[in-house]
Amino acid sequence: MSEAIPSTRRAFRRTDDFTQGSAKVKLVTENLPASLPPTSVLIKVHTISLNYRDANIANGGNPWPVIPYGIPCNDAAGEVVAAGSRTINLKVGDRVAPIVDTENLTGRENARSWLAADEDGVLADYLVFDERKVSRLPSYLSWEEACLIPCAGVTAWSALKGVGFGQSVLIQGTGGVSMFALKLARASGLRAIVTSSSDKKMKALQDRYSNPPLSTVNYATYPEWHRKVLEITNGVGVDLVIEVGGSQTLIESLKSTRRGGVISQVGYLGKQNAKDLDELVPLLIDRRVNLSVSRGINAGSKQDLDDLCDAMSAVEMHLDDIIDFRFPFDDADEAIEYVWQGKQVGKVVVEVD
Ligand SMILES: NC(=O)c1ccc[n+]([C@@H]2O[C@H](COP(=O)([O-])OP(=O)(O)OC[C@H]3O[C@@H](n4cnc5c(N)ncnc54)[C@H](OP(=O)(O)O)[C@@H]3O)[C@@H](O)[C@H]2O)c1
Repeated sequence: MSEAIPSTRRAFRRTDDFTQGSAKVKLVTENLPASLPPTSVLIKVHTISLNYRDANIANGGNPWPVIPYGIPCNDAAGEVVAAGSRTINLKVGDRVAPIVDTENLTGRENARSWLAADEDGVLADYLVFDERKVSRLPSYLSWEEACLIPCAGVTAWSALKGVGFGQSVLIQGTGGVSMFALKLARASGLRAIVTSSSDKKMKALQDRYSNPPLSTVNYATYPEWHRKVLEITNGVGVDLVIEVGGSQTLIESLKSTRRGGVISQVGYLGKQNAKDLDELVPLLIDRRVNLSVSRGINAGSKQDLDDLCDAMSAVEMHLDDIIDFRFPFDDADEAIEYVWQGKQVGKVVVEVD
């Protein structure tokens, strides 16, 4: 054991009160283990970032089961402050993050355990995890940047697999996964098109990504936005779509995709209505599209997280430009509401210290 373990931690637990306007999380103080299990590490958390899922679960909208009164969030960055007696890979001082699906180490495991759903999440000042479920984070990043990687980053990374230099990708919306995907796409020589419901958000993105200019389409103004995408791609369609709308947007996504292209089904932000999918099978056949349901990702594996960190470190990619807003730890409830209202362009960060 490397240093004295604090006896308690501060954590936010969900209230599971889904009435509008009520607090969605409550701050609690709870005991930490008196001694660390031999292969576990104690992580002092510095930053946490929110994902849509956190707001959705807190408001009772998640389609998968969750444990009652669980701790939300699955994106955290911190440092190892104590290590169990038989740890091999991690040591005190390492900058780390727990993986999002703690059963998904290589991508080949059968079991699944999502943080903040099947088990407690990371909205706390200290965490204890088995070292096998923890990855090292790039050392050149600030804590704020580092906490964007495990969920939003790995999801974007997994969803972009299969496209290469010069190919085109349609990215839906300006949320956290999408802005991380845009960042990776631009760095990888991909031609990106972004859809948004907000001209203001699109203008901000065009200012940020001016050289070469970023193509954008307002999906609220143009309900048949695939026509704009086809115009931009000379009638061909994009090679890959990062699909976050679900059944509400899937048909438009299919119509925006080139024959033989790929759709990475990442999210379900739109109203989910099976009637919207009447054209699904004929379009799949017609466009020979490879509809990849998030490529089976629930974000990705530990291996994906390690690969993304390696790729980012190779070019020292920074992420500060995709942070929209920062909240202090005590204001976690406000942070969840901010994401629920979809105010952000990119990511919302909770600073623990
Ligand atoms: N499969 C996975 O492993 C995985 C991992 C992470 C997230 N997800 C899912 O991916 C989705 C995005 O997550 P996130 O955390 O990035 O969300 P987020 O940050 O809350 O993104 C919200 C943004 O998405 C856009 N949006 C909302 N409704 C839309 C619609 N019907 N069609 C197109 N765009 C829409 C809006 O952008 P504008 O304001 O610009 O219109 C909105 O601001 C969620 O459904 C989430 O549950 C899945």
